[in-house]
Amino acid sequence: MSAMEIPAGLADVPVTKSAISIIDGKRAMLSYRGIAVETLAKESSFEETAWLLLKGQLPTQRELADFHHELRQRRKVHYKLIDVIKNFPADGHPMDALQASIAALGMFYPARDVKNAASNWEATLRLIAAMPTVVTAFARLRKGDEPIEPHPDLDHAGNFYYMLFGREPSPSVRKVVDACLILHAEHNMNASTFTARVTGSSLANPYATIAAAIGSLSGPLHGGANEEVLEQLSEIGKAENAKAWMDAKKAADPSFKVMGMGHRVYKVKDPRATVLQELAEHVFAETTRPAMYEVALELEKICVPIYGPKGVYPNVDFFSGVVYSSLGIPTDIFTPVFAIARVAGWLAHWLEQLQGNRIYRPEQTYTGKTDVAYIPLEKRP
Ligand code: ACO
Repeated sequence: MSAMEIPAGLADVPVTKSAISIIDGKRAMLSYRGIAVETLAKESSFEETAWLLLKGQLPTQRELADFHHELRQRRKVHYKLIDVIKNFPADGHPMDALQASIAALGMFYPARDVKNAASNWEATLRLIAAMPTVVTAFARLRKGDEPIEPHPDLDHAGNFYYMLFGREPSPSVRKVVDACLILHAEHNMNASTFTARVTGSSLANPYATIAAAIGSLSGPLHGGANEEVLEQLSEIGKAENAKAWMDAKKAADPSFKVMGMGHRVYKVKDPRATVLQELAEHVFAETTRPAMYEVALELEKICVPIYGPKGVYPNVDFFSGVVYSSLGIPTDIFTPVFAIARVAGWLAHWLEQLQGNRIYRPEQTYTGKTDVAYIPLEKRP
């Protein structure tokens, strides 16, 4: 294969077979194990969706009750890990803190034998259960507040909110957080999931695998976009400024990218963005309709005629930040919320990868020099 034939970003190149989720980018469809994500966001819970992703079918009532119980048992983390988190720089990025915490978690709860199914399931439970604990611990410790112990009576979404704010969410806020987690739980072969599969293929332990995926998610072209969307909306400030802002940005750099727009696979509006928008309307009925939402709507209106012909429409992150900020979640915690959800998908892919695993070792097309003479240091200028 010549260099010319390698699609940039491996676009359209299948890298594995998978039975976990499917996207139809032209028809705005996403399903997990065959069930439409819109249905799951409305009818399911994060825990049930995680089980579906991991096991391939919906749990029985008994399985779901046991899964809830097993997760709750593993929400607390070793006190020494909290000490480690206490020593992170307060101005460090929460995604970096999360990545380091998850790598460290693997030293407190080792699961290095990935041929052992029981150990893999134990690590799967612990990783899902502990993500909200370490995210909220850092979010609080950096402000000088003590972490809040997990609440045994709350579900995953409610407990995350509780550990972040120290108060229980209202039922509708809990539902919105839960639905956001469901919408972000899985999205087939994106950069972070591919990272998880590549890392897992070396038989690295699950904590190292998930830490690698978190690093990939942190970039602004992937999960980090939700943070940048809010910065962009703040920069615009008011809906009536959106047109002038857009004109100025395009004039300064014709290749400039609107954050929260565009997707490698969706060439229409991301179905998750549509569901999130509906959810946003529900939250705003209880809180207030934030100015940022009006700015986002206006920006979408301006962008569609410009970028629509290229298949660039709002992706999931266009509205998620507006929803999160209306709930009071700090901007730099948006991507960690994404990770709290996506760990379910990463783990489903890791477990799938381990069945009939072969280490990823692709080829490259060498474009460098050959037969270069070594010049001794003393003869070099
Ligand atoms: N704003 C303006 N133009 C865009 C945008 C955008 N956000 N996204 C793509 N385009 C344009 C490109 O410039 C390109 O134009 P051209 O054909 O004239 O050169 C065309 O649309 C095709 O885009 P690609 O660059 O091929 O898209 P690619 O699949 O490589 O990248 C990506 C997808 C990274 C998501 C891109 O759309 C982007 O940078 N978006 C902004 C960041 C973002 O929102 N990321 C979150 C993704 S969703 C997620 O991770 C959960």
